[in-house]
Amino acid sequence: MPLIAVLPGDGIGPEVTTQARRVLEALDLGLTFEEAPVGGAAYMVSGRPLPEETLALAKRADAVLFGAIGDPRFEGLERRLRPEAALLGIRRELGLFANIRPATLFPALANASTLKPEVVAGLDIVVVRELTGDVYFGEKGHRQNAEGLRQGFDVMSYDEAEVERIAIVGFEMARRRKKKLCSVDKANVLETSQLWRDVVNETSLQYPDIALTHMYVDNAAMQLVRRPTDFDVIVTGNLFGDILSDQASMCAGSIGMLPSASLRAWSGDNGMYEPIHGSAPDIAGQGKANPCAAILSAAMLLRHSLNDEASAQRIEKAVSAALDKGARTADLGGSLSTQAMGDAVLAELV
Ligand code: IPM
Ligand code: MG
Repeated sequence: MPLIAVLPGDGIGPEVTTQARRVLEALDLGLTFEEAPVGGAAYMVSGRPLPEETLALAKRADAVLFGAIGDPRFEGLERRLRPEAALLGIRRELGLFANIRPATLFPALANASTLKPEVVAGLDIVVVRELTGDVYFGEKGHRQNAEGLRQGFDVMSYDEAEVERIAIVGFEMARRRKKKLCSVDKANVLETSQLWRDVVNETSLQYPDIALTHMYVDNAAMQLVRRPTDFDVIVTGNLFGDILSDQASMCAGSIGMLPSASLRAWSGDNGMYEPIHGSAPDIAGQGKANPCAAILSAAMLLRHSLNDEASAQRIEKAVSAALDKGARTADLGGSLSTQAMGDAVLAELV
């Protein structure tokens, strides 16, 4: 019986994760679930955002269903005690270097995007974001510079092995789709990006069937709102991927719709699955959050960690059908509660 670690986390995390778990349970796949606190919620009970038991559960499980972390009450703590440290810690400890963030427009949501419907019609992008390197994990700190001024610093770096393995994920993903890969960097300014670009080019020799292009990140941000449907697969580093995937989510209507998978191998054993949205403390506990991103993350879990494509599609079709019938939470311009949106999806599960 596959074991799913459920880490609801902070803010709206528990609300949306509850709905995702309901959907998984309704499929009757014989999954077992074990829950553990993470982020601010864990700090409250144990003084640590990532208790050892939580990390051990994540490692032991066949897959991790993650809610969200972040709580303004803990922003003043030293960095290693803040909720975000838990998420970064799990990514690092589990070696989850490949973050898959699909941005797909459900037809019923063509008018939910802030972009014109004709610009986003047919949108179907996957952002492949590197997740365990870059400026996120480099040396960082505060110091005094030569003039005696306070200075903050974060070192950006990638080695060639790190770039190659994420490039391979990008190429493999493109191979299963429209065979277009756009690598995003800032090679006109950054040495890290120059190495990135060199290694992506070298890796491309093994993928002659994939049309590879390179784009600077500023241009990519612009093209994503100008002609988003030109993209198929985007592969990029941790920081650029963080930013561009939020941006891509708005092309798809709402950040409340986008799931993600974090994998440590292209063939994806014990990955972590989470909505790309955060903990949204402003609406936490009010039953307003859109559970679709969490529910769709559960679909990705079935696809990538349990190799159950059929069940993944059952979930995705149910979400699509619920939207077709007009089910909408507030972020999509409707008034359904989190639970009612979960009900609407469950009602369409066939
Ligand atoms: C994300 C989030 C995280 C990140 C934060 C919460 C640390 O924004 O998963 O995109 O920056 O990676
Ligand atoms: Mg982010």
